[in-house]
Amino acid sequence: LPRDLYAPERVNSPGLAFGDSARLAELMREAAAAAGPGLAAPVIDGTERGGATRPVPSAIDGTAIGQVLEADEAAADAAMEAAARAFPAWDATPAEDRAACLERAAGGFEAHRGRLLHLLQAEAGKTLDDALSEWREAIDFLRYDAAQGRSLFRRPAALPGPAGESNALWLRGRGVIAAISPWNFPLAIFIGQVAAALMAGNTVVAKPAPQTPLIAAEAVRLLHAAGVPGGALALLPGGPEAGACLLGHPALAGVVFTGSTGTAKAIQRALAAREGAILPLIAETGGINAMIVDATALPEQVADDAVTSAFRSAGQRCSALRLLVVQEEVADRMIAAVAGAARELRIGDPRALSTDIGPVIDAAAKERLLAAIARGRQAARVHLAGEAPAGLYVAPHIFEIARVEDLTDEVFGPVLHVLRYPADGLDAVLASLKAGGYGLTLGVQSRIEATVARVRAALPHGNVYVNRSMIGAVVGTQPFGGSGLSGTGPKAGGPHYLPRLAIEQTATVNLA
Ligand code: NAD
Ligand code: ALA
Repeated sequence: LPRDLYAPERVNSPGLAFGDSARLAELMREAAAAAGPGLAAPVIDGTERGGATRPVPSAIDGTAIGQVLEADEAAADAAMEAAARAFPAWDATPAEDRAACLERAAGGFEAHRGRLLHLLQAEAGKTLDDALSEWREAIDFLRYDAAQGRSLFRRPAALPGPAGESNALWLRGRGVIAAISPWNFPLAIFIGQVAAALMAGNTVVAKPAPQTPLIAAEAVRLLHAAGVPGGALALLPGGPEAGACLLGHPALAGVVFTGSTGTAKAIQRALAAREGAILPLIAETGGINAMIVDATALPEQVADDAVTSAFRSAGQRCSALRLLVVQEEVADRMIAAVAGAARELRIGDPRALSTDIGPVIDAAAKERLLAAIARGRQAARVHLAGEAPAGLYVAPHIFEIARVEDLTDEVFGPVLHVLRYPADGLDAVLASLKAGGYGLTLGVQSRIEATVARVRAALPHGNVYVNRSMIGAVVGTQPFGGSGLSGTGPKAGGPHYLPRLAIEQTATVNLA
């Protein structure tokens, strides 16, 4: 395997022992000390725009933790035009220098850990554990893209050809990329998109989710401070309307999107309706992610892995387990073990170290989840229905359904569905999962190698996890992303992401 492509020279951020309570207390003090009002406004050509702002509420308790000035159409146009002007110079900047900017930014993220952890907790409601792993993932994206891009974009690759001719393949930036990101990984996914697009020589207009503009603004400040030119990276806070403005702009050269399947399709339609070039879309979307458990699985491990996968981050991960599919013979025992472990989870303020489940992102998300829970209570057998404290909290629920087809939509929160299958019914379950059209994460709990191989081969899912949890993909180790309704690929944090953001040009020179 080409080492530069599959294992670029860099190291991921070190982990943290969660048993080290003194270290955790120190990190919490660091985050608390970095509290203070944030500001997110459009940043165009390196200059922050002024205007009327609205408060940004904390997901923890609704208090204002900063202000946001959302972009209007004029700001979106100005951002696209500034990025178009900056493109030729940034694309011509040596790959080494672009990589060095990303690496300096990684250092800046490390130096500003307290502020970033504070915002991940206050703005997005993350537990310390989740905030830390997201902060680390963002740094890993920066270093991975820098290391891979330094080699991929340094010089053209020489290709074989006949005598008297030289052939070379160049990778070059496409132009202005719109990077549209979700609120559930407001730092890691935001940076994963932006760093890759910049490394490939593109200039970027980044539109974060309306729920989490402050953390995006902080990230953009650190990227600019690390040497990314103002024109090469614009920030455009705002909602769907701001995103839609970017899609119609003539300077647009491509879109990197992470969010729901419905929004990906709306973006695809908007791009198809444009005059002119056929524009690429990289879309990473949702899933109805299943874990298949057979009679050889270990109950304690299933309980641990299913509860982590379904309920950590309040189930607000695209990778989260949504459907636990258990072989009939062991189903009662397995479901009881999972429900028992889930019952022990503590729901509450994510800044308390003992908290397992923090708030959901906003009142609209809570309302959607409570409606899904009310439907589940009516239509399905209830194995767990917890109580949540007041605020944006939703307790874990477990419902049993009769057929894969009974779960048609991604329920983006702490709601797990379970399903039993007879020993001779695995193929039918796999066929139904495949027919559902999603293909993001898939878990298998089995000690039979042939079963693991059969499940993996039957389904097109992007990330398959065997006898472990299904969340927490690591940059460069578990490149992340799926297929079908779950996205277009390529996988984030994987070898094929950067090249997809570039155009390829071969040059054939007659040497005679
Ligand atoms: P969303 O689709 O509502 O919004 C995502 C982003 O798109 C936001 O910035 C939003 O403002 C913008 N947007 C919405 N409509 C738009 C339009 N018409 N034109 C342009 N931009 C538009 O998703 P969300 O609620 O922010 O995030 C949750 C979803 O994201 C879940 O479905 C989850 O599974 C998915 N997700 C997927 C991955 C992955 O890697 N596959 C990772 C995280 C989240
Ligand atoms: N990359 C995130 C995970 O694996 C979504 O959980």
